[in-house]
This record gives sequence, structure tokens and C-alpha cells, in this order.
Amino acid sequence: MLIRELLCLNAEGQDATVRGWVRTKRELKSLIFVEVNDGSCLSSIQCVFDHNNDTLAALGTGCSVEVKGKLAPSPSEGQKTEVVAETVSLIGGADNYPLQKKRHSMEFLREIAHLRARTNTFGAVARMRSRIAFAVHEFFQNRDFHYIHTPVITANDAEGAGAMFQVTTLDIDKANSSPVDYSTDFFGRKAFLSVSGQLEAETYATALSRVYTFGPTFRAENSNTARHLAEFWMIEPEVAFADLEDNMRLAEDFLKFLFTTALEKCAEDLAFFDAHIQKGVADTLRKVVESRFVHIAYTEAIKELEKQSGKFEFKPFWGCDLQSEHEKFLTESVADGPVIVTDYPKEIKAFYMKMNDDGKTVRAMDVLVPRLGEIIGGSQREESLERLESRMTGLGMNVTDYSWYLDLRRFGSVPHSGFGMGFERLILYITGMANIRDVIPYPRAPGLVAF
Ligand code: 4AD
Ligand code: MG
Repeated sequence: MLIRELLCLNAEGQDATVRGWVRTKRELKSLIFVEVNDGSCLSSIQCVFDHNNDTLAALGTGCSVEVKGKLAPSPSEGQKTEVVAETVSLIGGADNYPLQKKRHSMEFLREIAHLRARTNTFGAVARMRSRIAFAVHEFFQNRDFHYIHTPVITANDAEGAGAMFQVTTLDIDKANSSPVDYSTDFFGRKAFLSVSGQLEAETYATALSRVYTFGPTFRAENSNTARHLAEFWMIEPEVAFADLEDNMRLAEDFLKFLFTTALEKCAEDLAFFDAHIQKGVADTLRKVVESRFVHIAYTEAIKELEKQSGKFEFKPFWGCDLQSEHEKFLTESVADGPVIVTDYPKEIKAFYMKMNDDGKTVRAMDVLVPRLGEIIGGSQREESLERLESRMTGLGMNVTDYSWYLDLRRFGSVPHSGFGMGFERLILYITGMANIRDVIPYPRAPGLVAF
């Protein structure tokens, strides 16, 4: 049985077998206490021995063990059940185990990413990721969305931002001829890792009506921040016959569902984050669930920011990208909660967004949350072939490369909308962790790829 199951039992005297890794061993008078954790839940189970022996003497933190005994109510504080141990077998020793201290720095733990899941913090993060990923599927599946597996390798730049990793089998050391002849490369043309599954999701939304993707996403932007990864997981719903208002409602319902799941289904881990990682994180989630997201057009948001111009390091002006300090001000001072900023200037948004009648702004939306800033980015898509083509041409894009995408506007075009949410941004928010590198098992960032 897993420790999580054993701890739920109240059966005094029932035989119990515990298998896991030793967290601590303490000796008190004639008793020996061994705390064993198997990662099935945050709690360890205490195994109490009334005799010492050679195996017990050799046990230390990090060893894997099997303990057999009987369940009993625990007199110790903070736990209901313990094991009155009868036998112990050492399965794997752990000499010079690096995780000895109660609290190691996050930086140190990043260097031993293969062992950090054995700490309370990283175990809790891993369980939270798993349960919330399940909730993502639950949310969409319950609403008749179909899960589409969009490709990881792609020939197109979905965001037009140009920060892509190239995929090639050409020998870089020898491919110094300029220009490189990509017709001899694996795919016969240039290929990349996908920065977004959106464009492919759109092809399925205009066939299955409601779809979503949830997969690895890659960005080669040199953003060495606590909110950016080079490899992350993105969730992208795409809905036919939906406008920006529908999109905003979907995003709000989605976040509220995920936060409610964290509060209700991950209570033990969330309480840990609240106590040890960020005080008040559970209340932050509760507050979002109870809030109504404030909607504000970009132009209005800039007016609000300009009133406080002196406050900011980066002076806001119409046309600027919102900086973290601006996002923070909007969520914390203007709205005191989540804010959806809409209708951004077309110059700072992607080519596929629907143009407003003013010809200057597009039907974009960014969902900003207090403390983190942007958690979701999305838009209504341009469904007019003429307008989309002229926008792409204006941006210098090669329209023939995207003829498949333009076909969606040629054949049965419909208004449609969608958004993208970085899964790690979400987990960062739910757990209160400080750095995005600590909410994914193996972080990839500029200069960082351990193995
Ligand atoms: O705002 P972005 O770039 O939007 C898109 O990619 C659209 N194609 C989405 C869509 O409409 N289907 O990215 C969406 C979200 C961001 O709001 C952020 O949460 C996350 O993806 N994100 C990152 N997360 C971690 N590291 C990075 N480098 C990220 N870049 C974006
Ligand atoms: Mg964005």
C-alpha cells in the first residue's frame, strides 16, 4: 500500500508494509523513529522501533527501505497514524546523500534536478502539476472540446516573433557554405520546434468546432527571467463561432476551475505552499475564484498608467508593450484582482489577430493576474481572407508558405477565437514558487540544459 492510503486508514492493529525513502531517523530514549516517504502524498509515515539492530544502525537519510509492522494511533503531534515496526530491510543504501539539510537553496536543488523530487517542495510541485494537468483535460472534455495533438516540428512561425529553435540533420560544422542548401536537409526545407500549436489548432477548430492542444512549446528568446522557459507546456483552446467576449468568458471560467481544483483536490500540498513557500497563496486563489475579472481596453489602460507616469521606471505611452510594473499596477492598484486587457495596437501583436474597425487595434486579450502578470494571451482571429492577406503582406511574410492557413478563410471561414496559457506560469501562480525553473522537472533556459 502507498503511504497516502495507509495514512487514511484507521485500522489499529492492521498489518502494514511501508516502502519508500528514509527522510529522518531519530533516537529517543529506547525508541528509534524512522520517517519514511514514498511521494504518494506530502506526509511521511513514522515507523517506531523499540529495539536497535544492525540494519537500523546503518539506515540514514535517502536510503530506500521496506518496513513491516502494525498500524497504531500516533501519540505524536501532526499525525494520526504510525507504524509500530517489527522488521526493516535496507533496499538501497545512500552514502554521502546530498539532501541532508532540512532546507537547501533552490539554486543548489536545481543543480541536482534528478534528486530534488525527493524534497517536500518538489514532490508537492510534481503532484500539483499532475493533478492540474488532469483538471485541464477535465475542464475541456466536459465542455465538448477535443484534444488535438499538434506537431512539435513545424515549418512555420506561428507567432511571427522569430525566436525559434531550428531542427536540422545537417552537420553544422560543415554547413558553413552560405547560403545553406536546405533542400539537402532532412525535411528538404528549413524546420523548427513549434512556438505554438495555434495555427494547426485553428484547422481543427474549423472542422470540430471546439478543440484544445496541450503540449511542449519552444521559444529561443533570450529571456533570462523567473517567468520564461525555453521549453514549456502550453494549453491552447480554439473555438469556432466564438468572438472575443466568448473567449474572455472561457478564460475566466478556465482559471477559476483550475484554482478551485487546487483548493479542493490538492489541499495538503497547497497548505504546504502556503506555510513554507508563500504565505497567503491559497487566499490569493480563493480571491480570484470569487472575483469578477475586470475588462479594460489597452487605450484605457494606458490612460490609467499615464496618470501615474512618475511611478514607473518605463514610462507608459500608447503603442508600448506593457511592462511587468505596468501589469502589476493594473492588477494590484486599478483592479485589485485579475484584469483582461483587450484591443492592443496591431504593431505589438501577432499577424493573425482580427483587426478592429479603427484600423489601429486588434481583438487581442491578455489575462493579467496579481503578482505574476500575463498568464494568458489570446485573441479573436482574422476571418477575412483579404484583410489577413494584406496584413501578412504588410509584415513581409511569405503568403505562399501560409496558403494552407489562408485556406481556412477561403473555404467556409467563420469567426473564431482562442488563447494560450503557459502551464508553468499557472503552476507558478498556484504554488507561489518564485522561479519558473522550479515548477518543471527539468528546466531549459538560456545556458541551462543539465541533461
Ligand atoms: O502570448 P503568447 O505568445 O500567445 C501565443 O502563443 C498564442 N499563439 C496563444 C493562442 O492564442 N493560442 O503565449 C501564450 C502564453 C503566455 O501568456 C504565457 O503564459 C505562456 O504562453 N508563455 C510562456 N511561458 C513560459 N515561458 C515562456 N518563454 C513563455 N512564452 C509564453
Ligand atoms: Mg503574450
